[in-house]
Amino acid sequence: MKTLILKKEIIKIFQKYGLSKNHSLISADALINAELVGAYGHGLSRLKMYCDRISKKLINQKPKIKIKKISQSISHIDANNSIGFVAADLAIKTAIKNAQKTGIGMVAVKNSGHYGLSGYYAEQAVKKNLIAMIYTNAPPAVAPHGALKSLFGTNPICFGTPTGSKIPFILDTSISMINRGKIRVAEKNNQKIPEGVALDKFGKPTTDPKKALEGVQLPIAGFRGSGLAWMVDILSGVFTGANHGGRVKDPFDDFSGPQNIGHLFITFKTNLFVNNFNNRIKNNIRIIKRLPKIKGIKKIMYQGQNKYKRLKMNSKKEIKISEMIKKDLKILKN
Ligand SMILES: NC(=O)c1ccc[n+]([C@@H]2O[C@H](COP(=O)([O-])OP(=O)(O)OC[C@H]3O[C@@H](n4cnc5c(N)ncnc54)[C@H](O)[C@@H]3O)[C@@H](O)[C@H]2O)c1
Repeated sequence: MKTLILKKEIIKIFQKYGLSKNHSLISADALINAELVGAYGHGLSRLKMYCDRISKKLINQKPKIKIKKISQSISHIDANNSIGFVAADLAIKTAIKNAQKTGIGMVAVKNSGHYGLSGYYAEQAVKKNLIAMIYTNAPPAVAPHGALKSLFGTNPICFGTPTGSKIPFILDTSISMINRGKIRVAEKNNQKIPEGVALDKFGKPTTDPKKALEGVQLPIAGFRGSGLAWMVDILSGVFTGANHGGRVKDPFDDFSGPQNIGHLFITFKTNLFVNNFNNRIKNNIRIIKRLPKIKGIKKIMYQGQNKYKRLKMNSKKEIKISEMIKKDLKILKN
């Protein structure tokens, strides 16, 4: 389907479910971006879930979002259970403004929901020549190292910086071996998941997505990944006033209340300590890219390069809509 037509359809659906035109537009843009960069687990496969949560009043159709200014650099947002895209959009715009004024911006968000891809927000700051660090917690999926039960979310860690070239450096990674969205897509499409990424509820390795969703996902790098997930829960949950410690609700399965996810956005100018950041980072990337390569590798890529390439390529094409999504769109439109 042509991107513009799809975008109009999504906006119409969100408006039908009671979101304002502006909130529908912000949400549609984020979902389309996820499709274009190939992050299908955070794109249209979630549209029905958002609409179901709006219908059940777990996402607020008309949120009264409050921004508390703590200092010229620091703001605290109470998103009043808005759809996560809207809270994150406001937060990154505020963090950018704060950093442009003072050199550094920090925005904490509570009472939010799933906002999709952290990198999407980091890119906005990088376009304004700022470095960004972004954290969000997520519903239980990963067992803390040594525990038998999932508690941490896939809690992505995101760091973005200008590179002095048109392709930004965006490290945007879940702390789990595989992100949960990918497991859900595999479940819907009757596909297997890779080995070594999840255990079933009895603690046995599994490649069955359904069993993985009932069991636990494994963190990257054992106790180190578990520690990173914990850090993200502290920064985006404990620190912001949002849910933490396994209390973020699963948006697909738990309709007992709003998610109350927390996010933390930190942005800062590149010239705080040096006046030639662009030359320095270009040099840094050049050194690394010139290293001798292992067999089978033609090019060393920096984080975000692959996604940028996919976005460029996919933006020229129509968006492929799977049968499953077609079904969802039909239900949501009628
Ligand atoms: N909102 C949420 O609750 C939530 C939870 C988890 C993940 N997410 C999002 O899902 C998205 C996907 O996460 P993921 O963990 O599957 O990411 P991924 O595994 O696709 O990529 C992780 C990182 O590795 C980089 N990368 C990939 N291949 C590379 C290569 N060959 N060379 C160098 N770098 C390379 C990517 O640019 C990216 O920065 C992210 O945008 C994340 O924010 C959101």
